[in-house]
Amino acid sequence: MEVIVKSHPIENITSSCLVLFININAADHTFACLSNSCNEMLRSLIKRGDLGNKPGKTLHIPLSMMKDIDRILLVSTGRDPVDFKAAIKIIDSTVNALQTIHTEDAIIDLNGINYLPDFANICQYLAQQLIASSYKFSHFNKNTTHNQEPVSDKKLQTVTLFHSGQDQLNELISRGIATGHGINVAKDLGNLPGNVCTPTYLAEEAKSLCSKNSAFSFDALGEKQLKKLNMNAFLSVAKGSVEEGKLIIIEYQGGEKTEAPYVLLGKGITFDAGGISLKPGPKMDEMKYDMCGAASVMGTMTAMAELKPAINVIGVIAAAENLPSGGASKPGDIVTSMSGRTIEILNTDAEGRLVLCDALTYIEQFKPQVVIDIATLTGACIVALGHHMSGLMSNNDKLAEELINTGKSVNDTVWRLPLGELYTKQLESNFADCANIGGPPAGTITAGCFLAQFAETFNWAHLDIAGTAWKSGKEKSATGRPVALLVNYLLSKAV
Ligand code: BES
Ligand code: MN
Ligand code: ZN
Repeated sequence: MEVIVKSHPIENITSSCLVLFININAADHTFACLSNSCNEMLRSLIKRGDLGNKPGKTLHIPLSMMKDIDRILLVSTGRDPVDFKAAIKIIDSTVNALQTIHTEDAIIDLNGINYLPDFANICQYLAQQLIASSYKFSHFNKNTTHNQEPVSDKKLQTVTLFHSGQDQLNELISRGIATGHGINVAKDLGNLPGNVCTPTYLAEEAKSLCSKNSAFSFDALGEKQLKKLNMNAFLSVAKGSVEEGKLIIIEYQGGEKTEAPYVLLGKGITFDAGGISLKPGPKMDEMKYDMCGAASVMGTMTAMAELKPAINVIGVIAAAENLPSGGASKPGDIVTSMSGRTIEILNTDAEGRLVLCDALTYIEQFKPQVVIDIATLTGACIVALGHHMSGLMSNNDKLAEELINTGKSVNDTVWRLPLGELYTKQLESNFADCANIGGPPAGTITAGCFLAQFAETFNWAHLDIAGTAWKSGKEKSATGRPVALLVNYLLSKAV
């Protein structure tokens, strides 16, 4: 799908759908691009209350009397004043309505919302959501002859955004578009099944991203190299599977070579059966999503390739498959991590932290400005925060604050949880420097504390996306979170 921006008044248009925002309180509802009779019709619809006054309420009006416009979509902006959350709602329902109308093209008159708080931000979010809403999983086309319901194959292809003036808007809309593309990359990798999206597949995808963009370079370490580096915690997970574990490194140099990089580290467990501490059967298929952290790194790097900001970013992906087998790690096994710290593996299903801890140690060589790891790390995070906010833990207050604020501004929110000695104590082991689990209480925090021990030499934040990376049930699909948060955090660092 394509989003086009035009900065002159709407005139002489032909469109299958014109989107107009209606502020119920406005003195007059007259649109220069519409005929008198059409304006009159709209005014009477609004007057008699057909649209309603809840922000985001929509009204679809099919037209037959106008030769140039097939339909109008009215979107209520409610009564003044509208806060940022309501503005987000208005955009979300506009995008949803466009998807359900089955129109091929649309024109959106942004001038109708230019009084909203953070208008520029809202336009960026609109562009992002238009692109993201067009995502469809199409790798294994369903056999249409077996589908009873004929689905309209009309897909939204072009959306033109009209606004008068404001040159900086174009820049922000480009950001939104690139973020949308990144979100779709993350969704697609997440949705791919475990038999396709293996560690090797992720490495191939990363390689192809890098080969298409000159500021990018690629590397992937296989198990032999990981062994040489003493990454035994990482290898203890990978060894239960015939799929080779891979540490994937994507370097983007947009700034000076000497500038310290921002490093993103994604958990890339391409399937998590739990290992010998086998998971129960129901919903185990969803553990193909255990690489959504890695997918968000790929999505974010894709957006970097499109926007080319003046910063250095390194994306690292710790990819492995966690399966039970004759070669798998067992509860009670002790491994020596790359850092030298010994770990007693009390539960092989707490594998994410084992691949991530060695990756964190590996990352030290980059002398990073900031490291952010992204992981579907704990079921406990869903208990704590549900499916609305990602968990955030950090050893740096400023970094945490920045991520919280960026999250709010792009509707990809995070909530900070504490770290600290009291929780770290839960990880004590009788036989090694630490255990890989801390018992039932505060499972998300003890996982964060485990990682914190390997992130002492840099500014670090950990995002637990177990509850936000995908949706279950009828809507089962990856969400592409937290690509919007990561892209916009990084862009805020490029001057
Ligand atoms: N990938 C899972 C976490 C997860 C579970 C995310 C369900 C989303 C939905 C992770 O590897 C895991 O299994 N964690 C264990 C940790 C426990 C053994 C301490 C968990 O959450 O049960
Ligand atoms: Mn697990
Ligand atoms: Zn896992």
